[in-house]
Amino acid sequence: MSDVLELEDLEDLECELEAADAKAGRTARRRTAIHDIEPGAAWNDVEHAILTRRSIRKFKGRQVPAHMIRRILEMGRFAPSQGNCQPWSFVVVRDKAMIAEMEQYCVAVCKNMTASVDYTNYPPGSEQRAAIMENTQKLNRASPNSFHPVPMTAIKSIANGRFAVFHKAPTVILILVEERGVGVPEVDIGVTGTNIVLAAQSLGLGTCWVGFSRLLSSNAALLEKLGVAPPFEIAEAICVGYPIGNPTQQTVSRQTHQIVWWEGGEKQILY
Ligand SMILES: Cc1cc2nc3c(=O)[nH]c(=O)nc-3n(C[C@H](O)[C@H](O)[C@H](O)COP(=O)(O)O)c2cc1C
Repeated sequence: MSDVLELEDLEDLECELEAADAKAGRTARRRTAIHDIEPGAAWNDVEHAILTRRSIRKFKGRQVPAHMIRRILEMGRFAPSQGNCQPWSFVVVRDKAMIAEMEQYCVAVCKNMTASVDYTNYPPGSEQRAAIMENTQKLNRASPNSFHPVPMTAIKSIANGRFAVFHKAPTVILILVEERGVGVPEVDIGVTGTNIVLAAQSLGLGTCWVGFSRLLSSNAALLEKLGVAPPFEIAEAICVGYPIGNPTQQTVSRQTHQIVWWEGGEKQILY
């Protein structure tokens, strides 16, 4: 007999355990539920939460009860991580004045950024425009992702006060990353954050990831107030609150990426 435990062996084992539990009148201790889903079956609760989640950028003024925030953080705590390192820590900000201070600082940073890279602020043909354009082109070549049109447009809107960084949410969860985590700790941050966001969705709360929260990292005084200290740094934030309107009605486009599917010695391309 092979010393590798096959799935079928595991199922047999679980059946034996179930039978033993039933005989002894104990509650079944089966840990894995095996569902045979027919093609085209209705989405289950988890799938439904994934499909109906939207990024929420308009929140009611009402605060979310603390116990609900604790509850979604608990889902984040149970996220998988490489080597089970759990390289995260959470800072929950529910204080209006503190959120306003965080917002103001990010706006100031965005104002500085647009002043130094956005040549459209200056009249065509002007010396200033030419100098800033040259600077921007250099920076763009050195770090193309940072100057992608989407973040740059958002940075300009933040600087002009047309787009709030923390979306005036009543609760902001900062997710800190511990850089000493094994592998790629930022991936683990994405995993714990996804658990939080989906748990919030299942409870009727709205969330929005805020990558711009990293702008806070250059404000030592604010970091100290927030309790962010090495080896931790701000990786992401998630705004939480009660959504205004019915955001699940809005559709956000998704690409259909091709899937390489290897099976039975053959490679297929699926969509
Ligand atoms: C890691 C990460 C960072 C993000 N940062 C921001 C942000 O700073 N501000 C914002 O309004 N949305 C942010 N988003 C939300 C994305 O814009 C959004 O998920 C995407 O447009 C898809 O829309 P949907 O979430 O409604 O499906 C972020 C999303 C992720 C996953």
